[in-house]
Amino acid sequence: MSPNKPLVVVFGATGNQGGSVLRTLAAHPESYTVRAITRSTKSRTAQELATKYPHVQWVEADIENPSSLNRAVANADVVFGVTQFFQPSVLSAVDTNQDAEFLQGKNVIDACVAENVGYVVFSTLPSAKKLSNGKITEALHFEGKYKIHEYLAAQPIDSAVIQLGVYFQNNIDSTSWNESGDTVVLSFIGDVHKKIAYVDVNRDTGPYVKYIIDNREQAKGKVFPVCSGYYSTADIAEALSKVTGLKTTTLELPTSVVDNNDLRAMFELLKTHEIFAESPNHLETNKLVPFEFTTPETYWRTSGFQGPPKKQ
Ligand SMILES: NC(=O)c1ccc[n+]([C@@H]2O[C@H](COP(=O)([O-])OP(=O)(O)OC[C@H]3O[C@@H](n4cnc5c(N)ncnc54)[C@H](OP(=O)(O)O)[C@@H]3O)[C@@H](O)[C@H]2O)c1
Repeated sequence: MSPNKPLVVVFGATGNQGGSVLRTLAAHPESYTVRAITRSTKSRTAQELATKYPHVQWVEADIENPSSLNRAVANADVVFGVTQFFQPSVLSAVDTNQDAEFLQGKNVIDACVAENVGYVVFSTLPSAKKLSNGKITEALHFEGKYKIHEYLAAQPIDSAVIQLGVYFQNNIDSTSWNESGDTVVLSFIGDVHKKIAYVDVNRDTGPYVKYIIDNREQAKGKVFPVCSGYYSTADIAEALSKVTGLKTTTLELPTSVVDNNDLRAMFELLKTHEIFAESPNHLETNKLVPFEFTTPETYWRTSGFQGPPKKQ
């Protein structure tokens, strides 16, 4: 452990959020020692990252298996934690155990406390129930993360939490061609003109977490929404036209088309509330981070998206 070159343990290192943190920190081997966590060092993504960043340490661990975690976080100055709601083990347990995602976070935090880790940065979300004054109760992937936040704050360990906005990446799955095949349709479950908090998870997460790590003392106890700005589906469609020259239009879908209770509750929340209402000045905080956050135009440009696959 060295305060000048902290050992940073990154969970979810082969995925979106953790991958962004890994790439950002690994680009500065003079400043950070990085230990990446994966369930399998043999996976293709882990192997590719290990080849690209040979100075990164790799340790196998599973956030659902507490006995694997102490070794993973041992001697860490900082641990970046992220949980996984949308995976079979959590989704299949949700009806009988609403704490399935919370337990993933608790396992990581308990290991950090046991191993005397210096600082934890955890990816969480606010409570949909709290934001909606008790009306939206089924957005479990918000409640589980909020519970992790509360649990972390009660531990004898310094910490900060990040909360990600809606990924720009989700828009790709919402694109299709219209009947005549000359216009890209961006559909959204809710009001296509309502501006909501967006982020490029792959590009923006790492710089934000690096800022927190570099300013651990000032960041302690704080909540950092990671959001590059507020945009509507109509804004995002317009940016797609501008970048690619494609004709675009939007399509509004009712929340009733979603058959998953958790996601339907999330879309209700996005329709009626502002997810970062508890951090009203958070876009000001972005200015502290020496990084140009992603706009819809930069998102479409850097994603290389040229339209959904054409129907055969
Ligand atoms: N989509 C959105 O708009 C949005 C917005 C805000 C927050 N979120 C939240 O973001 C979270 C997902 O983050 P992400 O997008 O970074 O996920 P992701 O890209 O799906 O990454 C998941 C990574 O976590 C690792 N992982 C999965 N299960 C694990 C386990 N049991 N133990 C250890 N590692 C495990 C996997 O690594 P290995 O396979 O290498 O083990 C994988 O690379 C979700 O909880 C979601 O609710 C999503």
